[in-house]
Amino acid sequence: MSGGDKRPGKGVGTVIPIRIAGGEPAAADGAKIVAPNFATTPRVVTTPIPGVIGAFLAPGKIRLPALPPLALYVHFPWCVRKCPYCDFNSHEHKGGDFPEAAYLDAVRRDIELSLPLIWGRKIHSIFIGGGTPSLMSAQGLDTLMAHIRALLPMDADAEVTLEANPGTFEAAKFKQFRLSGINRLSIGIQSFNPDHLKALGRIHDGAEARRAVEIAQDNFDNFNLDLMYALPGQTLAQCQADLETALSFAPPHLSLYHLTLEPNTLFHKYPPALPDDDASADMQEWLYERTAQAGYGRYEISAYAQAHRASRHNLNYWRFGDYLGVGAGAHSKLSFPERIIRQVRYKHPENYMSHALSDTPVQ
Ligand SMILES: C[S@@+](CC[C@H](N)C(=O)[O-])C[C@H]1O[C@@H](n2cnc3c(N)ncnc32)[C@H](O)[C@@H]1O
Ligand code: SF4
Repeated sequence: MSGGDKRPGKGVGTVIPIRIAGGEPAAADGAKIVAPNFATTPRVVTTPIPGVIGAFLAPGKIRLPALPPLALYVHFPWCVRKCPYCDFNSHEHKGGDFPEAAYLDAVRRDIELSLPLIWGRKIHSIFIGGGTPSLMSAQGLDTLMAHIRALLPMDADAEVTLEANPGTFEAAKFKQFRLSGINRLSIGIQSFNPDHLKALGRIHDGAEARRAVEIAQDNFDNFNLDLMYALPGQTLAQCQADLETALSFAPPHLSLYHLTLEPNTLFHKYPPALPDDDASADMQEWLYERTAQAGYGRYEISAYAQAHRASRHNLNYWRFGDYLGVGAGAHSKLSFPERIIRQVRYKHPENYMSHALSDTPVQ
């Protein structure tokens, strides 16, 4: 854990002297904003609240009876290689020299700057996504988790997911990730078929994909496997073989995505030969039936889970919950008694880091 004052609000430098009718005056450093029952208690701001927070707390058009649950998303923007179908905010790092320490400092600062927007609220789930956050060193991930725990109150049973690419699996590192507080892995398998993995430009082969799942099983009781279907040249039988292999590991959760040709990707510019609509519809129908037969409930478009294994973080998005998104290009949706705000962070990693470290990560 790095040094510095870990108390919420310290080092943030935002002063929010507010008084809420029926409640206690908030502490001068903003550490305590009392949340009354907004449905019944008229909220009277007796002194103008300076700055951005004042605008968020001022009377608005809606009145929320209570604030929804709050999740945290942390974006890690680098990958070993950019996949030709991917339009996520992910950047190929040349030779593995991404600036881990500087990025973690920027993310920490980003969280600190966000604290006044979420005073007193607990985080119920965390998703560290990308990009390929499993590229982080064990020490780096531990530092990130230490920053999060030091700055944000978390539910004792918070779901903490890390996205992982099978090309980055080292058993010792994933053991450390578990010890640092990650309790769920989401592994980007895509396919177990070597030809399809090659067509998708993946950095791993089928054997590495299987090995990754075995390492996940050894260290995590909760994990998700991402598979894509309707892949270049894929037949129904090949799609079935992929799902059967995945099911053989009894993953608690499966995400099954129809490959889409996203604008600004290599596949969009040079489209590969894909199964036609009838063929991909057959695959989709078969996937629905087979997952149901294997005991997986489909709880959103692409997500399937064993009983009680639906992702809390995923469900939070579908239930219009709040999320604080930190890191390059991350999005936030945060509720206040009388308004909902949305934010986007600077997208390019270098741009994000320099803005976050000069206290302006939000675009
Ligand atoms: C941000 S990626 C995370 C995993 C990790 N970066 C990896 O690829 O191994 C999330 C998932 O989105 C899915 N995905 C990405 N691009 C897609 C596309 N164009 N069509 C369908 N699914 C896609 C993949 O299954 C991928 O694993
Ligand atoms: S590894 Fe994942 S995030 Fe990175 S380019 Fe490939 S699909 Fe996108």
